[in-house]
This record gives sequence, C-alpha cells and structure tokens, in this order.
Amino acid sequence: MKKIAIFASGAGSNAAKIIEHFQYNPEIKVSLIVCNKPTAGVLDIAARAGIPTLLIEKENFFRGSAYLEELEAHGIDFVVLAGFLWKIPAALVKAYPGRIINIHPALLPKFGGKGMYGRFVHEAVVEAKETHTGITIHYVDEFYDHGRTIFQEKVEVSPDDTPATVAQKVHRLEHEHFPRIIEAVVNQQTDGSALPNQR
Ligand code: GRF
Repeated sequence: MKKIAIFASGAGSNAAKIIEHFQYNPEIKVSLIVCNKPTAGVLDIAARAGIPTLLIEKENFFRGSAYLEELEAHGIDFVVLAGFLWKIPAALVKAYPGRIINIHPALLPKFGGKGMYGRFVHEAVVEAKETHTGITIHYVDEFYDHGRTIFQEKVEVSPDDTPATVAQKVHRLEHEHFPRIIEAVVNQQTDGSALPNQR
C-alpha cells in the first residue's frame, strides 16, 4: 500500500479530486492532509473524508524537523502539493527524493517562482496577453516551481478572458489531469511502468 500525504493551504478542490480518485484504489491511499492554515477549506474536506490532518507551523517546518517524524508515523511514501504556499525545506526534499510532486497553474518556466500563485498567476497571464496558459505538474526540489516537469497541458486564452475565467479553465485542467498523473507517477515509482506521455 502506497500512502500519500497531500499538502494544501487553501480551498482544497484539487485535494478533493485526488481523494475521490483514490477512494477505491487498493494500492494507493491518501493517508494524511498537511495544512499550514487553520481556516483552510481543505481541512473540512479531510474531515468529511475521515482523513487525518496535520496542522504545521513555520518555525518547526523550516527550522525544526520539517515534521518528518509525523510523516514517518503515518507511513507516508509520497508527498503531493496541491495549492501549498510554502517552499519545501531541503530536509523534506532529501527525505523524499523524486517523491514530492507539485501542480502549478501555468506553463512553467513562465509565470512561476515566489509569489506566483493563484490569481496572481492568472492576472500575469492576462496582462501579458498570452494566447495560451495551462498546468505544469513537476517534481519538487528546493526551489519554487523548479523541479523536472512531468506533464503539461495547454488551454487557449481568448482576448475577452479575465483572470477569473482563466482560473476556471485552469482548475478544470487540474481536476482532469492531476489525480491520474499522481497515480501514474506513484505506480512508476513502484513498478517502473512508463510515465503518461505528454499530449
Ligand atoms: C491550484 O490552482 C493549484 O494549481 C495551485 O494552487 C491552487 C489550489 O487550489 N498550486 P485548490 O486549493 O486545490 O482549490
């Protein structure tokens, strides 16, 4: 059984889709939701799904043990960032080599890096009059939005799109692709099966 921890800071719509996706999977289980915001919607999602939660705070995360003991205690094999706004400390990256993945709501390397999250990304895409945007699912290293890309999918941006309508298009892509890419990557880690080919 492969156990996943989802790290999230916000509404948790991605976390909800991932939980739903693995609900009946005999080999892969969402075993823990890690969150840095006591009021985040993702905590309600976890409670409804009966999944344990771990509320973390900055001091211990960045200058302490990075909660490695708690992750071990839950038998976590894989970490999925789904709207988690803090950088991942080196201790955590080292403890889970090639086993932390993130989703970014744009086509990295464009529109990535510190401060580029949520609506700020979509505002920048509209501002730059991009004809396309999309999602990037990538491995996580010590730098923001920097690790090797696993999967990207594009969507058109029309001149009358607003940051809000772009966000809707991107969220649809996230919900469609993230759960199955996670499954493919976790399986690939276990049985070496091929990664999903890019579109
Ligand atoms: C998503 O846009 C994701 O790409 C980004 O953070 C957002 C999380 O949204 N990393 P939600 O909390 O899953 O609804």
